[in-house]
Amino acid sequence: MTATRTLPQARLAPSILSADFTRLGQEVSDVLNAGADWIHFDVMDNHFVPNLTFGPMICEALRPTTDAVIDVHLMAEPVDALITMFAKAGANVITFHPEASHHVHRSLSLIRDHGCRAGLVFNPATSLNWMDHLMDQLDIVLLMSVNPGFGGQSFIESTLPKLAQARARIDAHVNAGGQPIALEVDGGVKVQNIGRIRQAGADTFVAGSAIFGQPDYAKVIDQMRLAIAQADAGAA
Ligand code: DX5
Ligand code: ZN
Repeated sequence: MTATRTLPQARLAPSILSADFTRLGQEVSDVLNAGADWIHFDVMDNHFVPNLTFGPMICEALRPTTDAVIDVHLMAEPVDALITMFAKAGANVITFHPEASHHVHRSLSLIRDHGCRAGLVFNPATSLNWMDHLMDQLDIVLLMSVNPGFGGQSFIESTLPKLAQARARIDAHVNAGGQPIALEVDGGVKVQNIGRIRQAGADTFVAGSAIFGQPDYAKVIDQMRLAIAQADAGAA
């Protein structure tokens, strides 16, 4: 008898990295109206990653246009000042890479002190051991399924067993009375692979080029949700 498992409800978080920046506000509105749940902000500083994107002012500009969760992924070093700036700009979730902070516990506490949900981002080569002494500090864990810096890359398959390990650790924590922790995946997520990613245990899915690169946002979002539902049915 295979154990059935019910995962938290799936959430889609389109990354604005692949949006049309000449009309960003309309893009965000369109993708949310098409059924997306969160808006994912890929913040890059051309230091921690070899690319440069946008800062808190974009978050501040978009905040009044939507009640949707703004999910800020800091690919920057150092992080503490940016945590405060993005929290004040209206971020709801802030994640950062542990390699980018000399005091990871303090940086996570800073995010929560600002009233935001806090999380760590794990690059493909970053060990989940960073979770060992921080489970009570985490509201979300983000696994990178590409090496950070650019949209449109291919999904790294070794992320799947890593997702399963993270899911097992989160479930053990929650079953022992711990707070819920979202499990997010970012990079190379497509209609064609999102079912397998769900089966591995993810509940929150970042997708940039798979959504913003398409002519019909609702169609691709519906296709993703169908693939997730089929994965869940298979696990039942
Ligand atoms: C990498 C970025 C991308 C982006 C998603 O640093 O974090 O992973 O969010 O891009 P796609 O979905 O196009 O791979
Ligand atoms: Zn991201």
